[in-house]
Amino acid sequence: MEIIISHQRTDFDGLAAMVAAQKIYPQAKMVFAGGTTNNVKEYMSLYKNRIPIKYPSDIDKSQVTKIIIVDTRVAFRLGSFSELVQQDEIEVVVYDHHLNRQNCLQDVTEIIEPLGATTTILVEQIRQRKIGLTSFEATLFTLGIYEDTGCLVFNSTTARDAKVVAYLLELGANLEIVEKYIDYSLNRQQQQLFNKLLDSAYKVTSKGFCISFFQAEVEEYIPDISLLAHKLDELHNVDALFVLVKSGNKVLIIGRSNHDSINVAQVLNYFGGGGHARAAAATIKRNNVQDLIELQQELLKVAKENIVPSVLAENIMSSPVKTVTPDTSMREADELMLRYGHSGLVVEENERLVGIISRRDIDKVRNHNLLHAPVKGYMSTNVVTIEAETSLKEAQDLIVKHDIGRLPVTDQQGELVGIITRSDLLKLLYGTDDYIKNRQNLYGRSLVELQEKRYNIDEKLKLIKERIMEVLKLAARLADFLEADLYLVGGFVRDLLLEQGSLDLDLVVEGNGIKFARKLAQELNGDLNVHHEFETATISLGNNLNLDVSTTRVEYYSDIASLPEIEPGSIQQDLFRRDFTINALAIQLNQDSFGQLVDFFDGKVDLEQGLIRLLHNFSLHDDPTRIFRGLRFASRYQYQFESETEKLIRQAVDLDVVDKLSNNRLIAEVKKGLNDAQPLSFIKLLFDYDLLSYLSNNISWNQTKEELAVNLSKIIEWSDSLAVTFNIEEWLLYFTLLVAGLEKKEIKILVADFNLSSDCLQRLLFSLEVDQVIEQLLVAEKKSRIYFILKELAIEDILFLLARESKLIERVKLYLENLQWLDIEVSGEDIIDLGYQPAPGFKKVLEEVKKAKLDGEVEGYQQERQFLEEYIKEKGVE
Ligand code: CTP
Repeated sequence: MEIIISHQRTDFDGLAAMVAAQKIYPQAKMVFAGGTTNNVKEYMSLYKNRIPIKYPSDIDKSQVTKIIIVDTRVAFRLGSFSELVQQDEIEVVVYDHHLNRQNCLQDVTEIIEPLGATTTILVEQIRQRKIGLTSFEATLFTLGIYEDTGCLVFNSTTARDAKVVAYLLELGANLEIVEKYIDYSLNRQQQQLFNKLLDSAYKVTSKGFCISFFQAEVEEYIPDISLLAHKLDELHNVDALFVLVKSGNKVLIIGRSNHDSINVAQVLNYFGGGGHARAAAATIKRNNVQDLIELQQELLKVAKENIVPSVLAENIMSSPVKTVTPDTSMREADELMLRYGHSGLVVEENERLVGIISRRDIDKVRNHNLLHAPVKGYMSTNVVTIEAETSLKEAQDLIVKHDIGRLPVTDQQGELVGIITRSDLLKLLYGTDDYIKNRQNLYGRSLVELQEKRYNIDEKLKLIKERIMEVLKLAARLADFLEADLYLVGGFVRDLLLEQGSLDLDLVVEGNGIKFARKLAQELNGDLNVHHEFETATISLGNNLNLDVSTTRVEYYSDIASLPEIEPGSIQQDLFRRDFTINALAIQLNQDSFGQLVDFFDGKVDLEQGLIRLLHNFSLHDDPTRIFRGLRFASRYQYQFESETEKLIRQAVDLDVVDKLSNNRLIAEVKKGLNDAQPLSFIKLLFDYDLLSYLSNNISWNQTKEELAVNLSKIIEWSDSLAVTFNIEEWLLYFTLLVAGLEKKEIKILVADFNLSSDCLQRLLFSLEVDQVIEQLLVAEKKSRIYFILKELAIEDILFLLARESKLIERVKLYLENLQWLDIEVSGEDIIDLGYQPAPGFKKVLEEVKKAKLDGEVEGYQQERQFLEEYIKEKGVE
């Protein structure tokens, strides 16, 4: 016989885990090992028919061959089964979420996971095995998880618990029932004990950690003291707390920790107890229990010994530290801060730390026009420093206590070895350990976590065209031969993941990119173009297929206001210098990892979530075109800017970084945006980010223009459906709309400033006459009239006027498909034939013939010739 049991005083996690275990072991019988908590008792009184659980007296223990234990692995908690489970011939399987190793059963099959509830482990298995659940079961399982995780708020809660709860809710778990049995209100006895405990509070600080102790003596056992501990924890904002409750000759100690540096299970191990690092308990059972105060002192001593700061200053400090001297000007300090993304700098004189200058100080001085003044006049000289071994917690307390943004870290000789800033701390509190290992200071402040992730993207690789795949495979073989790591990066990778094609391949080589490019061009028989100054090469393969090859590189700034210097770097560094996370993905091409997606900055997640995120806070200063690129990607894919990225764009625009761009680069970016998939969104972003004034001061954007832009896109689409095809400069159409409203003079200046062609000028000036042309066309009855009006216009003008006046669509269609192609058969030869010498007047005559033909008055050579002769007879050739 197989049985499923849990610990005595079975709670909801125990009960739920038993029921869940029976789903996996349907042949096993559930048996209570001892009593249950009051809530479970109440629940069972209602549902005992649905949950067939036996009592120890109902079964013949000698028949038991296998025992499945849930929610404990401590033999003595198994009541009347404690001996049976230790018999050699009985197979024992344990499912538990308690990690303590004290008093645990040996030589058993264990499934132990550090989760908030044992039920979570079992439901995960049920899910994996695709075993169906009823909503009744889902409700009980939710109850089990909620009870042990305090409705997912206890520190022991993990994401897996929450995921399982989500799954159970999907299956119909009834929260009303859950709420009924999760009882957090205290009964009278518990309330009295709670007040006693509160009165006894004793707080101690050690190594920067605050620990509270509560103790009380009660006459008889009071259940659910752990709930009181939880409530005390909520009330007292401490790093750890211990509750000691004495009843008779027993003392129950409950420990709770809110910090990784204090493992309460370890502390309570000393007293024979156990549990989790964040929640543990011990029962001391001695005939003569010490005085509670003495026990508390002992506990304090053990707790202090067990505080192991998990993070020290040296783990997170940045070094070397950017310093200035007392004579540096405030302006230089300001620029340095901007460039490196710091909000304060250490002031050093003769290698001695003499002060700190912060952005706040600079801003004050700026308001008084004193940026030329030296730092020494404004720096704070009362510098609070810490040592490399200072715990993160102490550092945090100092920052809060002194309301300072940074703490220089010094060694024993007082020399500066690093610095910790408020944002380092925040990042650490919200981030992970990887932050410590992978901090990246090269580019000022990183906006991303650096963690290498690799994904198999075989399904996406199948979308790559055969011809491109052949090129990639050949490049991969060559890279292996040259022993160089080779990656495909940039837009191609981004668009492949989005399942959109691209013909521009960017390859980067960890090694010698140019040498690689030369060989590859030979193998592919392509045209090679080497740009030595940038250490890049382009290979053209015909049919618009182009390969850009470069060497992985790192860019760094050795000094403020200097140009970036370039050095070969790793693939990670190469990707980190790029613009956005979605453009910083790579596909490795070397044969043993061919096709693996390499993602250091969670660009894949951003791509999936539709977020445009910069990689570091100086990115837009390094290259202001990125502002426009960002807008372009945001509009093309209808993505959002991640909040900090948005702030940085606005800040960069406020700081006028766009002014650093040449007009040629600026207009090139604007053109790209207007030629892209969503020009209207792009324009709206240009407007929203205050960028239109960089084109011309008086450019305006408003609701009417927005409506016209919508019309424009429809008209462009319509033009596609015509029987004729045109080469339309779409950007110019939208640009004409943008400049509409400017005066002729302003348009001319704009065209000159941005080096635009005279053709462009004509299109832009058309915005000034469009209304007039529309009026003429609206009243044009005759086909010849329509023809002669439209003949003067470029296709962009025509589409532009249609966006303004859709009533003209039929006339324009007639012109575009028909009238414009109509030719007369007579020519100047016919006039010469009548005895005239070639003269400018010929044009007028032939136009009259055309007019007659357009209006259907003549048809064919004979009629045209007759018309021509009569016309000349009457009007002559002027
Ligand atoms: N890049 C960058 N900063 C820029 C320009 C380019 O970091 N100012 C990087 C990006 O990684 C980008 C790659 O260089 O993906 C290639 O740039 P480019 O070919 O200009 O753009 P794509 O990203 O391919 O975008 P598009 O689809 O518009 O061509």
